[in-house]
Amino acid sequence: MPWRDWIRGAEVEPSIYAADFLRLGEQIETLVAAGARIFHVDVGDGRFISPVTIGPVIVKAIAPVVRAAGGRVDCHLMIDDPAGQLEQLAEAGADSVTFHREAVDEPEAVIAAARAQDLAVGMALKPETPLEPAVALAPQLDLVLVMSVHPGFSGQEFLPGAMDRIAQLRERLPDETLIGVDGGVKRDNVAGVHAAGAELIVAASAIFHEDDIAAAYTGLARAVA
Ligand code: DX5
Ligand code: ZN
Repeated sequence: MPWRDWIRGAEVEPSIYAADFLRLGEQIETLVAAGARIFHVDVGDGRFISPVTIGPVIVKAIAPVVRAAGGRVDCHLMIDDPAGQLEQLAEAGADSVTFHREAVDEPEAVIAAARAQDLAVGMALKPETPLEPAVALAPQLDLVLVMSVHPGFSGQEFLPGAMDRIAQLRERLPDETLIGVDGGVKRDNVAGVHAAGAELIVAASAIFHEDDIAAAYTGLARAVA
């Protein structure tokens, strides 16, 4: 099924990077019960970004719970060799992958490798990366992910220039290509990023750093409903 068909209008996508990993299963179940259907897994290799984060082992743990609710596991690959991880991620239960344009020489090859694993595919752009490569590759992509922080950590401030980048992409990309936004999304800017054109809206600390994560998710989701 194409990625666009997973999206209920706009979709707030909890990023488990900021989850309490001692209580990960419980927190996923809480968010599924609150209505979350797409979960964001930030894969970091200690090279493309400085921290080593999480990967296929965690995908394998959460995918059955997410999929049982009709949900999807979406992997943001902040790694130098995305093609080398696709098979493991697909086997672990990933539904989609988003690689970074800056990490690869031949994005077409990564896209083809992901399609071969039956994965939906997105391409992410760091805040300073020109938009043109994403526009040129759009016919092959399901998603363009606009980074609104420098990739690496959750809990950073939203970079305001991302608003205009989202709006420019919405004008230049075909309607079928989704636009995502990742980094620093909170209650006070979520409606703005959606109005600018983002339909897939990633949030980590705005959900997991709240005492009531279900209410935090619902608050964001209602703001873009
Ligand atoms: C950052 C990651 C993000 C991060 C978002 O490099 O790609 O997905 O988890 O965290 P918040 O929403 O706290 O900015
Ligand atoms: Zn991310």
